[in-house]
Amino acid sequence: MKRIVSKEALNYIEENIVLGMGSGTTVEIFIEEMWKKGFKKLEIVPSSKKTEELLIKKGFRITELDDKCDIYIDGADAVNRDLQMIKGGGGALTREKILAYNSKKRIIIVDETKMRKNFQGLFLPIEILIFSYRATIKRIEDIGLKGKIRGGEKTFITDNGNYIFDLFIDERYPIEDMVMKIKMIPGVIETGFFKDLADLILVGKSDGNVEKISKIS
Ligand code: A5P
Repeated sequence: MKRIVSKEALNYIEENIVLGMGSGTTVEIFIEEMWKKGFKKLEIVPSSKKTEELLIKKGFRITELDDKCDIYIDGADAVNRDLQMIKGGGGALTREKILAYNSKKRIIIVDETKMRKNFQGLFLPIEILIFSYRATIKRIEDIGLKGKIRGGEKTFITDNGNYIFDLFIDERYPIEDMVMKIKMIPGVIETGFFKDLADLILVGKSDGNVEKISKIS
């Protein structure tokens, strides 16, 4: 399903553009397909060290984010039909959100297992500063929310040098209110809730088809 959707996404890119590139296994398959197709003249802004390493290995040109990317391609951990997403399963949510925000067209590639009616019961990754992490977590808990630091004993560190707090999405709190409150806490860098940051979601299906979810349809 990830390969089918990656191949479909190739139809949306062309040479001589600036391409923002997300992270994760779906994106890795997309990079492989892009390489097979022989794209050479793209300039690519990677969202993580892992994506950057793969792009360099495949011989793609890496660039920095100076202004808007023409197109942004990324996966997601969960998506709904309102084009909202939960991201950050790989810990790259902050750079991914920056790239999605600074791109003219955002295309998300997922397999059908990522489709959700709502996000309740999932975890929302939150990038937090190490300096104040214990206090930051207590302030999140003060709102009545629960979660855990990613990695436990072997704490996960993001490419930006921060921790990830995986917050349990509790059905008693509407996710947008929850995110608004969390973002007010100093020490919180970013959350993995993405709203108005996807123009088109391509969903790879087990029957071999690709469903398109966009603002227009
Ligand atoms: C990375 O931090 C995430 O936002 C990824 O986009 C997400 O985890 C999707 O990864 P997969 O394609 O591996 O499911």
